[in-house]
Amino acid sequence: MNKLAIQGSQWGDEGKGKIVDYFSSRADVVVRYQGGNNAGHTIVFENQKYAVKLMPSGIFHKGVKCVLATGMVINPISFFEELEILKKANFDVSQVFISSRASVLLPYHQLLDGASEKVLKDKKIGTTGKGIGPCYEDKYARIGLRFCDIIDENRLKKHLKSALEFKNRELESYSLDKLDFDSLFNQINEYGKKIKPYVCDTSKLLQEEIKKGSKILYEGAQGAMLCINYGTYPYVTSSSPMAISIPLNCGIPLNSVDYVLGIAKAYTTRVGEGPFPSELFDGTSVYLREKGHEYGTVTKRPRRIGWLDINVLNHAANISGVNGWAITLLDVLTGLEKIKICVGYRYQGNIVNDIPASLEDYEQYEPVYETLDGWNEDISHVKSFSELPINAQKYLRKIEELTHVNIAMFSVGPDREQTVIISDPFEDK
Ligand code: GDP
Ligand code: IMO
Ligand code: MG
Repeated sequence: MNKLAIQGSQWGDEGKGKIVDYFSSRADVVVRYQGGNNAGHTIVFENQKYAVKLMPSGIFHKGVKCVLATGMVINPISFFEELEILKKANFDVSQVFISSRASVLLPYHQLLDGASEKVLKDKKIGTTGKGIGPCYEDKYARIGLRFCDIIDENRLKKHLKSALEFKNRELESYSLDKLDFDSLFNQINEYGKKIKPYVCDTSKLLQEEIKKGSKILYEGAQGAMLCINYGTYPYVTSSSPMAISIPLNCGIPLNSVDYVLGIAKAYTTRVGEGPFPSELFDGTSVYLREKGHEYGTVTKRPRRIGWLDINVLNHAANISGVNGWAITLLDVLTGLEKIKICVGYRYQGNIVNDIPASLEDYEQYEPVYETLDGWNEDISHVKSFSELPINAQKYLRKIEELTHVNIAMFSVGPDREQTVIISDPFEDK
């Protein structure tokens, strides 16, 4: 079990950063495989709270190689902002590697993200506004810049010139000012020079680590329901957070993952627009939002809150083959008299369990709940499953029963220490 994938299994913000950090002390390499600085992963230890956006959450452990893989879209300006913060806090940033094939997120991407959201008005996606969608668009339209292109002045000139022709036309179509080639070139050229030492063939690097038998953590951003292929399209992000995307996004063979750890909150949250059948609008949502500090790490938006949805977990697990769950924020449910789990949906007079392709269908799905008794005991210092109040134990067992996947671990607070392992997914065989 040397190669562990951490996959968000709801709509993001499941606590992936915390779980990656927890295992990173034992890892040789931590790899971010998709997304960009739309991610906000929170890590808490020694009474300090940190949030990483582009950097793998292994960065807090000295000697761990941190890889930003090909599947990512990386804003070089944000990269250095984050790097400086980490350096100032005395973390070791000497082992950061960026894929020469990863996509460069440029200022026009962010402008276009904002502009298209404005045009969509009440149909807006509710993006993080970081330019993620437009950058992936360029990648697939084959006019994107990759890191191999910006670390060489001549290549940058050539690629930026042809890309900016398209992009300026697009900016104009939104009545935005065109960007001046020379000033953009000078800006990105500076960043290209600065970033060069970090850029390499990370696919080769990972292949070599795999051959050596290194312990590797793959860190997903976002969550399964935000997947471009299998999420609540179009209210999704523009990449695939599913663990099955790891081989392609990292440039490594299919069998490069030993275990997929699905991260799920003990309830559900979502930021941005789109369907969310188990969403709550009553006092319980306010209670959970305040208790769980459910405000976006990146955009500070209040997160939408709902009960745990088993259909969502099964969707995530069935597509990417989740081997075990990490259930996070269990402590936040403490104090509720009754806890509901969405176990199915009512649709056109039938009970169904699928996540349909069509949004128009999904919007008509009504949640069907099973109700369990809650608990009042403080669980934030619990160190084992058996120390949990019996109703909390029953809640976790119910998740296992309904998903047919065992719970490998659970989390009872934001701190690194507030983590309980039931069956270790990252121990040596
Ligand atoms: P990520 O994007 O999946 O890494 O998750 P975020 O960091 O965006 O959001 C998770 C939030 O929950 C952060 O504020 C974490 O510090 C916090 N958190 C993680 N695990 C727990 C837990 O078990 N209990 C509580 N109360 N907070 C947690
Ligand atoms: P982490 O890694 C929660 C959501 C946005 C929006 C949609 C598209 O912290 O879990 P984008 O900017 O990606 O084009 O926005 O996806 N979104 C996230 N929601 N957590 C995230 O990341 C998210 N990254 C994007 O709110 O609904
Ligand atoms: Mg987050």
